[in-house]
Amino acid sequence: MHRPPPPAAIPPHKQTELPRHIGIIMDGNGRWARQRHRPRIAGHRAGVRAIRPVIEACHAAGVDVVTLYAFSTENWSRPRTEVLALMRLFGEVIDNEVDELHANGIQIRALGETDALGSRLAEKVHQAEVLTANNTTAILNVAINYGGRAEITEAVRELARQDADLTQLQPDQLGRALYTAGLPDPDLIIRTAGERRISNFLLWQAAYAEIWVTDVLWPDFGAHEVGLALADFASRVRRFGQVVESPPADDKAPARA
Ligand code: FPP
Repeated sequence: MHRPPPPAAIPPHKQTELPRHIGIIMDGNGRWARQRHRPRIAGHRAGVRAIRPVIEACHAAGVDVVTLYAFSTENWSRPRTEVLALMRLFGEVIDNEVDELHANGIQIRALGETDALGSRLAEKVHQAEVLTANNTTAILNVAINYGGRAEITEAVRELARQDADLTQLQPDQLGRALYTAGLPDPDLIIRTAGERRISNFLLWQAAYAEIWVTDVLWPDFGAHEVGLALADFASRVRRFGQVVESPPADDKAPARA
């Protein structure tokens, strides 16, 4: 299992109305391209251009960790030409963006089986992780060849290889074997392009995440939409499975979660 470097020690953050960690399912690049009668890869290129302003808006708002879902374990079944074009694009993004992210103190971490990306791309990912490993301003996780089920399965295998007593396995112990060990769970998952599903993204970590879905396609998503998502998050009452202290007078049955 690829092991990203330990996450930077980010300072404690007590503003519960602000997510500490946001996960983003960047969807809709293909539809964006189709609307313009352009090839799908043009949508992915436009999707790459959307990333920087979104990361900047998250960090300007005080969000410590952003996790982008760039390529899932299921995305390999896309047409070979699209997969190859995406791999090339990931390499270009690393070449073009890492220095600036590093200059801004961002730690870059890859979540997923990067070894399967091919040795050149895997090496670029590794170099970006090493270069930025000591940065402490904020953390950018890129989920690439990532699937929540594969992550959990591999974590259990790893614990078995370490001879852990799996009959006594505790949730915290499993959490520490995931790519996100040491990081706060995502408080907010944003999904663009309208679908209302989690698509194998951070399955374990998103147990109590708030979910915000917008119809806006990823290439059109920007700082304005980040503001809308954060404002909506601030209005949510998070119960974590418990009953809130002072329910409104007309509260009916206890909430499930
Ligand atoms: C989903 O749109 C998007 C992807 C599978 C790829 C997302 C990748 C990028 C934006 C590049 C990011 C790169 C890095 C390194 C962070 P879709 O193709 O499923 O769109 P559709 O549902 O409209 O067809």
